[in-house]
Amino acid sequence: MKSVKRIAVLALAAALLLCCLAGCSQSKGSKLVMATNAAFPPYEFKDDSGNYAGIDVELAQKLAEKLGRELEIADVEFGSIVGGVQTGKYDVGIAGMTVTDERKESVNFSDSYATGVQVVIVKEDSPITSVDDMLSLGSTIGVQQDTTGDIYASDTIENGGFGDDKVTRYKTGADAVQALITGKVDSVIIDNEPAKSFVAANTGLKILDTAYVEEEYAIAVSKDNDELLEKINSAIAEFKQDGTLDGIISKYIPAE
Ligand code: ARG
Repeated sequence: MKSVKRIAVLALAAALLLCCLAGCSQSKGSKLVMATNAAFPPYEFKDDSGNYAGIDVELAQKLAEKLGRELEIADVEFGSIVGGVQTGKYDVGIAGMTVTDERKESVNFSDSYATGVQVVIVKEDSPITSVDDMLSLGSTIGVQQDTTGDIYASDTIENGGFGDDKVTRYKTGADAVQALITGKVDSVIIDNEPAKSFVAANTGLKILDTAYVEEEYAIAVSKDNDELLEKINSAIAEFKQDGTLDGIISKYIPAE
């Protein structure tokens, strides 16, 4: 009788243990799902062999390592990242994403890990030499849909934009640059480092000397996941301190 009871207790304990193990690994989520839009070098792009590369990708890899999770990359439309992070479809949005008040209504942002500036790309032989020229010539602008470049450019002229009717939206920054090359638009407004990458990779393009406000890039996290946000912030602080972040950035952005 006693031994039967002991077996039952042991079986129950084993069942509980198994259950707990399964539950633990599930709640921990062995994968860290990063949403990005990988046509935005040097932050995220596919290298010649089709592998994801770039500052954000390497930062995410270090972050996943730190969290003891495996990195999974979801390459999606830029405009769907914030919503997907908000609903928990993705754990983090890492996409050279600028912190804006509007996005802050939907997601939390980590501490900033980089900065960016919006710039204008034109063809080398373009009559456009300044933002004033863009206005007076009534020139057209290509942007990546839902980016800050899109938001600025399509704003009214009074608000510092060019008017919605001048703007054509593309799925990726790379597509917008392609439209400039093929003459579908007169200019592209995009973040400075991607602009430099695109100008370096294509002949006949240049960046105008314009100064827009500086933007902060940060990682988007669900408002329901403060624990993850805290871990990300301490990882970022550590990566800043120990040179990890500088190391990643200088690998992709050679010092001038
Ligand atoms: N910094 C800009 C923004 O947040 C553009 C980011 C685009 N990122 C990308 N991976 N395509 O709106």
